[in-house]
Amino acid sequence: MSCVDDIDIKRIPRHVAIIMDGNGRWAARRGNDRIFGHTRGVEAVRASIKAAGKIGVSYLTLYAFSTENWNRPKIEVDALMGLLVNVITAESNELLKQNVQLKIIGDRSSLPPDVCKEVDRVVEMLSVNDGLTVVMALSYSSHWEIINAVKTLAVDVKKGKINPEDISRELFDGYLSTAEIPNPELMIRTSGENRLSNFLLWQLAYAELYFTPKLWPDFSEEDFYEAICNFQHRERRFGMTSEQIKKTKLK
Ligand code: IPE
Ligand code: IPE
Ligand code: MG
Repeated sequence: MSCVDDIDIKRIPRHVAIIMDGNGRWAARRGNDRIFGHTRGVEAVRASIKAAGKIGVSYLTLYAFSTENWNRPKIEVDALMGLLVNVITAESNELLKQNVQLKIIGDRSSLPPDVCKEVDRVVEMLSVNDGLTVVMALSYSSHWEIINAVKTLAVDVKKGKINPEDISRELFDGYLSTAEIPNPELMIRTSGENRLSNFLLWQLAYAELYFTPKLWPDFSEEDFYEAICNFQHRERRFGMTSEQIKKTKLK
């Protein structure tokens, strides 16, 4: 029996974020180079998009390349950038059919021009859709994002557009690259590493964290449903007591 049958369709997280980790180890275990693992990871991306769309998730954020990943060997960075363009091009028609929208977050100025051009073309092409939004974090890190937001906010204060007393959590949200997107309720990381690696540090403040030992290329549609089921069995308290939460549920 599939875990999808246990999912309560009325309590689907609106936003799921994934740290897609373990491609290199997956390839090494098979005596292959790391790039082979990245290529095989694309199947898991497809599976996750399909699963998220099927159960009605609104936003799926995928950590595809971090600011820190620029420090990897040039051959791997180049291969990842090439793979990215090829995958976005090859999948665009299928994503159009699946009613998927695309959004990119990250430091665009560090991306090669051909990557920016192709990404812009597909973002525009999919903008006619109104289903699941896939948010690709590309050359992204939370430290980059927060510093960037603080700089823009400081300029607005200097110009007199914002009064320092009016700075609130909601106002700050609007300066982040995820402005307009609700915070993820669930964050999944594959490969058995129990850390955030500079991913959505602000936005994940109250997310449920789900760590699985599966390496990313092995992550399937069923694994995605399993993470959703696990999420639905948790009690999210937001600082309150269990009794308070139960009372609000009864209302
Ligand atoms: C995740 O897999 C993909 C990227 C970070 C781009 P890794 O390449 O980090 O694989 P491991 O963690 O070394 O196995
Ligand atoms: C995080 O994975 C980044 C992505 C999945 C894109 P890493 O493999 O780069 O993270 P660390 O270095 O193990 O923390
Ligand atoms: Mg890794």
